[in-house]
Amino acid sequence: MSTLRALSLLTLAATFFLAACSDAPKDTHPDQLVTKRKAIFKDFTRTLEPIGLVARGRKDYNPREVNVSALELQRLATQPWVYFTPDGNYPPTHAKPDVWEKPAEFKQAQDNYLVTVNDLVASAQSGDLARIKAAVTSVQNSCKTCHDQFRSNI
Ligand code: HEC
Repeated sequence: MSTLRALSLLTLAATFFLAACSDAPKDTHPDQLVTKRKAIFKDFTRTLEPIGLVARGRKDYNPREVNVSALELQRLATQPWVYFTPDGNYPPTHAKPDVWEKPAEFKQAQDNYLVTVNDLVASAQSGDLARIKAAVTSVQNSCKTCHDQFRSNI
């Protein structure tokens, strides 16, 4: 076998290897629906985290900071849903088919979540740490309830 041919076979093998190791399929949708909604969900996590730490006593309670985070979560809470359009079920999504097959239940889960986030904002404004703790738990439960029905385990 010529060196050139051996080299090109090696390159081919390396390409396959890289393709096999690369992450989930790329988001090929022109509107990048999956990428956009995932970015917002990650912001949910990032925004809720410092309040969660306060609630678990792992971070000092700073009323202003908790207030700002709660308002930010409220701003984000309405945002992912518009990206679940009828043509939005494609790899690399981790959404379950129920999102598209049971739209009324999916909407209900969003509304339940919003109620808990609004209560978190109210509790942050009250400055009552016990109330904030309870509200954080409710928010986390509503994230989980929706994920149990509508998101596959990652
Ligand atoms: C009404 C349903 C619903 C609620 C409420 C909800 N999620 Fe999700 N979440 C989903 C679905 C569906 C996906 C999968 C999205 C996809 O892969 O297309 C998801 C994905 C995610 C992801 C993964 C993003 C990625 O990069 O793959 C994170 C993190 C996440 N949610 C965090 C949260 C947090 C934190 C909350 C609460 C503060 C929350 N979600 C509330 C439905 C919900």
